[in-house]
Order: sequence, then C-alpha cells, then structure tokens
Amino acid sequence: MLNWILFYFYFYFYYMMAAMAAIVATVGPAMAGVTAPNSYTPLPGPLWNSLHLMDTVYQSTKANFPPLPFLSINIMKIDAAAAAVQACHDKTIRFGLLSSIKAVENRSDEVMAQETEEEEVEENLNVSQIKQHLFAALQGINRGIFGVPSAKKSEIQNLVELLESQNPTPEPTLCLEKVAGAWKLIYSTISILGSKRTKLGLRDFINLGDFIQTINVDQGKAVNVIEFSARGLTLLSGQLTIDASFKIVSNSRVEISYQKSVITPDQLMNVFRKNYDLLLQIFNPDGWLEITYVDDALRIGRDDKGNIFILERIEIC
Ligand SMILES: *[C@@H]1O[C@H](CO)[C@@H](O)[C@H](O)[C@H]1NC(C)=O
Ligand SMILES: *[C@@H]1O[C@H](CO)[C@@H](O)[C@H](O)[C@H]1NC(C)=O
Repeated sequence: MLNWILFYFYFYFYYMMAAMAAIVATVGPAMAGVTAPNSYTPLPGPLWNSLHLMDTVYQSTKANFPPLPFLSINIMKIDAAAAAVQACHDKTIRFGLLSSIKAVENRSDEVMAQETEEEEVEENLNVSQIKQHLFAALQGINRGIFGVPSAKKSEIQNLVELLESQNPTPEPTLCLEKVAGAWKLIYSTISILGSKRTKLGLRDFINLGDFIQTINVDQGKAVNVIEFSARGLTLLSGQLTIDASFKIVSNSRVEISYQKSVITPDQLMNVFRKNYDLLLQIFNPDGWLEITYVDDALRIGRDDKGNIFILERIEIC
C-alpha cells in the first residue's frame, strides 16, 4: 500500500516539476530582474510557492536528506503549487495528486509523533550520553570548517543546548582553573566556504591541521595555534599563531583582545602573504566569549558573532 502511495506521489510530483519548469521557462526572463534565487522576494502567490518548493527540494537533495518526510512538511506549498497547474490537468490527475497529499499528510503526523518521542528521550539523557551523541554527530565533518548540512548543524546545536542546560560550572570565570590549559577545537560554526576556501588554497594544496588553544590564566593570555601543511615539491608544515589577552567581564564571560599573530616558518608565510588579512579575519578572536559549558574534558563557548565553539581538553607534553 505504502509503495503505491509513494509511487503515485513521485509520479505526480515529477509531472508537476516538469510543468513548473515550463512555467519558469516562460516567465523566467520577466522575473530575472525581479528576484535573485535566494532572496525570497514575494512573487505572485502560486509562482513563488512553486519556486520555493523547487528550491526546498533542491536543498534537501543536495544535503542527502530522505526527501519524503521533508516534503511532507512542505505540504502546504505542494498544495498551492498543485492549484497553479490545476487548469492544465484532468480530474484524474488532480484526484491522484490530492489523495497522495493526504497520504503524505498522515505520514507527516507519524513522523512528527516520532520526532516528539525522540525529543522526550533526549531530555532524559545524562551528560555522558549527550556527549556520546555529540561525538557521533561530529564524526566525519572536519570540525564543520568547510560547512555542514543544515540538519546536521541543528542536531549539533540541540546537543550543545542539552549540555549547556546541564553545565556543571555555571560560573566558570570564578574558577578559571577549569578553563586553564590546552584545548583542541572539535567543532565550530565558523566555516570557510566558496571563494575564501579557494583563495586560501584549502581546496587543493593546503591542509588545515589541528586548532589548539592554550589558556594561561595567570597571565590572562590565550594562544591560538592553527596548523597547516602545504603539498608542493616538498611537504611544508607550519602554523598560524595568534596571541590574545582576555579579561573577565562577568561570571561566565571574557573579553578577548587580539594582540599579535605570526605564521611560521617563512615559507608558509609566503604562501599566505597575500591572503593574510583574510586568514586573520576568519580566525581573529576579538570580542567577547561566553563559556556556556565546561567540565574536566569538554568546553563550549559562544561568541559575540553568534558562533559556537566546542573544544576538547588535551595534554601537551
Ligand atoms: C489518514 O488517517 C486517517 C485517520 O487518522 C484515516 O481515516 C485516513 O483514511 C488516512 N488517509 C489516508 C490517505 O491514508
Ligand atoms: C548515564 O546513563 C547511563 C545509562 O543509563 C549510565 O550507564 C551511566 O552510568 C550514566 N552516567 C552518569 C555520569 O550518570
């Protein structure tokens, strides 16, 4: 039964897509001056809906999500799009489409019930269980530095919020020894995408290594070391070192000030010289940092730009 529903759904869905494509091809040139692809400028109702639907489908396929549950959430949009092409189709097709929509609506209820259940389970997790989920979610995404699918991003954000709600150190700046020492970045929402990534050579010949932060509480200093290696005639490794000072501004917040930075060795500096500003712009720690979770092994921070950072304590010999 479900197979048939899916079959019909997909059949009419692709049929509809073809119709949409025809509409877009016809009115496309007229629209070109009106809206840019991602700028959600309101267009005449049905047209906007169908465009938005295509965009949604495209985004979801791109991120490798199972398309059906996702589509079911967008049922209102399918409905509107169906109305737009209604005039061109016979009754059988309309009937088929609408009953598929109903079936998907039912499925959507199921999916939502399931999700609610999952959320309830999550609320009962203890810290070590949440961490397990978090570490699993962070597998294979290279700290998020080159972007992550939005579903993954919100999964991580949910787990971060769960941990923050069980923070054993709500006033971390009153016991800074919890924060002192060396930490390795395992996730951040800072990402290097598009032309920035190309300019920095991070698509091909340069690899981004570990990002280590060492905090010296007595001196009020934080040293960030970002390791790089460049593949050329010989393998060249080095690092960008950024020195910063910090001062306590509340029970959970520090104000961080950039002091100086250097790339070593010189050969690596030469590689980055013309994009040095860009590099600093990405990794500059200036601004405040709220320490929202810290225990013996894990630290989470949020900065004034809305970024999240997750770091793991390491030992430096
Ligand atoms: C959807 O669910 C309702 C009851 O929850 C049921 O009566 C109806 O037949 C279902 N529709 C489809 C198309 O499965
Ligand atoms: C967390 O829960 C799991 C399973 O219920 C249990 O085995 C574990 O000991 C708990 N850990 C802590 C730190 O409470």
